[in-house]
Amino acid sequence: MQKILVVDDAETNRELLRNMLENDYLVDTAEDGEQALQKLQEEHDGMAALLLDLHMPKADGIAVIVEMKEKDWINEIPVLIISSEHAIETENRCLEMGVSDFVHKPFEPSIVRNRVKNAIELFNYKRQLEQKVEEQAETLKRQSQIIQMQAERLSKAKSFNRLMMEYRSVIMEVETKLKVLNAVFSEEYKRNPFESIKSRLKTPESIYKKLERKGYSLTLENIQDYVADVAGVRVICSFPDDIYRLAELLTRQDDIILLKKKDYIETPKSNGYRSLHLILSVPIFLADEKKYVKVEVQFRTIAMDFWASLEHKLKYKKDINDTDEIERQLKACADSIEALDYQMQEIRDRIDCPGK
Ligand code: GTP
Ligand code: MG
Repeated sequence: MQKILVVDDAETNRELLRNMLENDYLVDTAEDGEQALQKLQEEHDGMAALLLDLHMPKADGIAVIVEMKEKDWINEIPVLIISSEHAIETENRCLEMGVSDFVHKPFEPSIVRNRVKNAIELFNYKRQLEQKVEEQAETLKRQSQIIQMQAERLSKAKSFNRLMMEYRSVIMEVETKLKVLNAVFSEEYKRNPFESIKSRLKTPESIYKKLERKGYSLTLENIQDYVADVAGVRVICSFPDDIYRLAELLTRQDDIILLKKKDYIETPKSNGYRSLHLILSVPIFLADEKKYVKVEVQFRTIAMDFWASLEHKLKYKKDINDTDEIERQLKACADSIEALDYQMQEIRDRIDCPGK
């Protein structure tokens, strides 16, 4: 039930109004303006309406309204004035100060209830509208930020494009390193440690969104400092042990710096996601400098990749209603895939080394 506060120095009025309203609201009372302001101070957030007498000792109704205006509570809580006369001047003054309505004595229960109900509903409606406007303003702000960013990007296009060129270059470096390892492997072990490589450069929109999510503005420095996956390389292997062998061989190379390792194979995410993520810093050789550039390398098996692609789709679908059930099934699939990956690995070992 919503709470309302009845403020009147006459006990009979307080009791009459309480009786009329207590079926629909939690009715609290105050005997004078001072008490009313104290109660408002404590719980103006949860107050649905205020019924207020004008003539009271200590602080009168007008003083309460003045204080409410000062604290902006008048825009949060509808105020209905309890009055015995239809004094045009007073009523006008109250309305100008932001009062919502009046309940006249002698009280007519149905009129009192309807006026209180209407005032509360109007305020709720107003609040919802304000919230919508606020949300729209926020959307507009975001859009204007994006436009601003695009303008900025255009003006800085040369340096932004140059930075993207560096990320493309680091992808080429890592791909080459992986291809060399593949050649070495197939020479030594007669098989390829990975099936395929998929590389991608993060889009400007996606870079912008990530920086925004982390609370950083779009600058070239922030991209380099806080977005570790502008350059992304995904290595798809057949077997789990190839993943670790490849990752080890790659990070052992003396020009590569391993910045971060997240092993979601050893410790899968709760949804079942499994992959090995490395954030590497790899040098690229430009016309007149050597520069270290970050790149995210994800290693997964074919089966894990198959799973992740499908699970990824779920995140972008808004109109699914049995998400919980799908999540449960995906988790079960992830478990099966884990078992399958190791089973396949075991079979491979038995084929490769039949004596063991
Ligand atoms: P992002 O901000 O998304 O980059 O995540 P993060 O910085 O916390 O890094 P994390 O290593 O957890 O994830 C990096 C990337 O791995 C993501 O951008 C996705 O491409 C992939 N990834 C991580 N978790 C999941 C997941 O639960 N499902 C799928 N399909 N992909 C995931
Ligand atoms: Mg990412």
